[in-house]
Amino acid sequence: MILATEMDSFALIIHPLKPKQDVARKYPLWARIVPTPLIHFLSRFWPPLYLSHVTGVRSEATGKEVEGWLLACPFTARRMVQVPPQIAYEKIVRAGRMAQSLGAGILGLLAFTSVIGDGGVTIAQRLGVPVTTGRSLTVAVAVEAVEEAARGRGIRLGSSVAAVVGATGNIGSACAELIAPTVAELVLVSRRESRLAGVVARVREAGARLVRSSTRIEDICGTDVVLSATSAAKPVIGPEHLKRGAVVCDVASPSDVSPRVAPERDDVLVIRGGVVDVPGEPDFGFDFGLPPGQAYACMAETMVLALEGRYRSYSLGKQVRVEQVREIAQLARKHGFTLSAIG
Ligand SMILES: NC(=O)c1ccc[n+]([C@@H]2O[C@H](COP(=O)([O-])OP(=O)(O)OC[C@H]3O[C@@H](n4cnc5c(N)ncnc54)[C@H](OP(=O)(O)O)[C@@H]3O)[C@@H](O)[C@H]2O)c1
Repeated sequence: MILATEMDSFALIIHPLKPKQDVARKYPLWARIVPTPLIHFLSRFWPPLYLSHVTGVRSEATGKEVEGWLLACPFTARRMVQVPPQIAYEKIVRAGRMAQSLGAGILGLLAFTSVIGDGGVTIAQRLGVPVTTGRSLTVAVAVEAVEEAARGRGIRLGSSVAAVVGATGNIGSACAELIAPTVAELVLVSRRESRLAGVVARVREAGARLVRSSTRIEDICGTDVVLSATSAAKPVIGPEHLKRGAVVCDVASPSDVSPRVAPERDDVLVIRGGVVDVPGEPDFGFDFGLPPGQAYACMAETMVLALEGRYRSYSLGKQVRVEQVREIAQLARKHGFTLSAIG
């Protein structure tokens, strides 16, 4: 375990999203022999883990370097949503205390560690280190990715129909609000009808021209662009749901897009939303599934705050604020974080 130096620093809590594949990154033999249902079950009892020391994250604007740590909260996504939030909080807080004792200046909660419960509020209250879920930068990067991918495919957003799946969620609703004034028509999809009305009002206020809401995933069939950010533990978008030539930006972890889409629909473009290139020569010391030098935008938000020396909790709670999205996007640009190549 490498303790903090004098540098500004951050810690990130990750957890397994694809049980077999992700557990194999730490325990290759164990992951080979233990069946997936047993991994889900046992994950509840596994204690938090120190994974690695992160080095080489350097601001292009100031030359300042920060260090960090990757910590694991070994709960699979499916298991984390099955257990009562208090059980999940307990393990996340224990991982957070590891971050504190390492000397981290700010803590990022990734993937489902930020989805369960109240979006990090309780966890932040129980820790002596500021916390962020990284959602503000995730929203900014996802919207930028959609715009760039649509441009690359010759889709004019201004005359296109766009869908946001998981539209009532923290990320989905903020993305919908930002996309609303740029498209001809917006289709908002989530499971619970009761929560859709509020988002419809929010996007109308933001300048949406035509808005439809739906609880059926089939209703994305006629849309040119799809941004998906559900908290479903399994994929919700299949090859049968997509219009010919559509662009899909998948922000969810685990992924919302079925693995059947790639082999069956070579006419559609599916991109991982929310992935950025990190400035400097970042070495994460652990393979969390992205190419070297890349990180999820929520990880990047935590790094940006450390580069700024801004040690206050940032994106917390159930609503992402558009002003914060704009602020963190501007800070990320300043320090040299850029949208990863789309392909
Ligand atoms: N790439 C990154 O940097 C990054 C950062 C943070 C989070 N994330 C990921 O982004 C996703 C969303 O996070 P969040 O914080 O916005 O979650 P959230 O607030 O819980 O919202 C989830 C949304 O998904 C909907 N939903 C859940 N299950 C669904 C299903 N089976 N079909 C359709 N809609 C469904 C929910 O509404 P209903 O329950 O009414 O359906 C809600 O609208 C998660 O996968 C998270 O891991 C990515």
